[in-house]
Amino acid sequence: MSGAGTLSGRVKARRAGALQGVVHAPGDKSISHRALILGAMAEGISHVDSLLEGDDVLRTAAAMRALGVEIERENGRWRIAGAAWRQPEKSLYFGNSGTGARLVMGAVAGKQIAATFDGDASLRARPMGRVLEPLRMMGLEASDMDGRLPVEFIGGERLTAVDCKLAKPSAQVKSAILLAALGAQGTTRLHEPVLSRDHTERMLSAFGVKLKVEADDAVGRFIEIAGGQKLKACNISVPGDPSSAAFLTAAALITPGSDIVIENVLVNPLRAGFYETLKEMGANILFENKREAGGEPIADIRARHSVLSGVEVPADRAPSMVDEYPILAIVAAYAHGETKMTGLEELRIKESDRISAIEKGLAACGVDVRSGEDWLAVRGAASVRGGAKVSTHSDHRIAMSFLVCGLNSEEPVEIDDASMIATSFPGFVDVMRSLGGDLEIP
Ligand code: S3P
Repeated sequence: MSGAGTLSGRVKARRAGALQGVVHAPGDKSISHRALILGAMAEGISHVDSLLEGDDVLRTAAAMRALGVEIERENGRWRIAGAAWRQPEKSLYFGNSGTGARLVMGAVAGKQIAATFDGDASLRARPMGRVLEPLRMMGLEASDMDGRLPVEFIGGERLTAVDCKLAKPSAQVKSAILLAALGAQGTTRLHEPVLSRDHTERMLSAFGVKLKVEADDAVGRFIEIAGGQKLKACNISVPGDPSSAAFLTAAALITPGSDIVIENVLVNPLRAGFYETLKEMGANILFENKREAGGEPIADIRARHSVLSGVEVPADRAPSMVDEYPILAIVAAYAHGETKMTGLEELRIKESDRISAIEKGLAACGVDVRSGEDWLAVRGAASVRGGAKVSTHSDHRIAMSFLVCGLNSEEPVEIDDASMIATSFPGFVDVMRSLGGDLEIP
């Protein structure tokens, strides 16, 4: 695997000056995983441009190869020769990636293949029952470690369509069911009371799959998908990841004199909760040159230093910004007044317990922060003392958040381990430096 080894150990961020320039965010992680998986399931050759070449996505590529699919990188493009999948010889290892593990589980279940799924210590601690439960309802036979990895699929059982309601808004669970449904007998009907990111639905349509989506503001969305449909190869261009662009945007907002543009970022409304919240805080951000590419809305994001005020972030916004709370907490520390974030129960079971990691890190930087089981409140004082060594708990988003925090704190902020940044944003340090950020690798 490339990436994780490129940046390891401590990194220190210190105040330098205004951030200026035009940059790109890396390819969207959610779309990158889906492009590899759907391309591998399709008949024919698919090409993918601007794939995120972070560790999480490279693990999914490795899993597809282990399932018998040819995937090559050719002149910066990825070429996927879809094929009938075969049983892997070794266990499928997903490293740190919940998305990879959960989506591939759904796809493998629909193909009646025996396989073992595994991951690193963090992924082994995360719940898999949320995916296994609906797949078992469809007929999957699998053994697991009390709802955790490693999970072993027995293989051979043809799945049957289900009619089910998602207990929690989770695009990973929804996607696993949709991918399994493609290999099931009958038509699966899925009710999603609270909407989650819809990249799987959009991309399945691009691959020629027919799904019926009925939306109703009051009760959410119903998705119907008939089993046995074939996917036809197609070409995908992956837009920039709004969850990665969030760190660049935040850095510009909190650093006086800054004015940056991040080109070609996905602005799907189901991923835009962070930007909506920033606007409510008074942020000077614009979505410029809005356009469509590959069935997704994209834009260039312009972000300038702003005087920000604390806000209440409603619980129902969580699905559209679930990965952005760590960096929002940093922005909140630089705002005037309190920002209260609620509905955060899922943050406890991400790559780390993010509520706890943010609270400890901010407190160490001298910020007034409180938390409860599913909420976090940050009282901003428009400036941050810093001067702390922050533990990232091997979580890429905690690592990047506290490096951004150090870009304008009175004293530098150091993180204990930057290696996991490669899971989602391999060029983070270089991009920040190109904008003028002072990040030192001691
Ligand atoms: C993702 C869905 C979200 C998100 C994750 C990516 C996806 O997880 O946190 O980073 O690509 O479907 P949940 O489905 O658990 O909310």
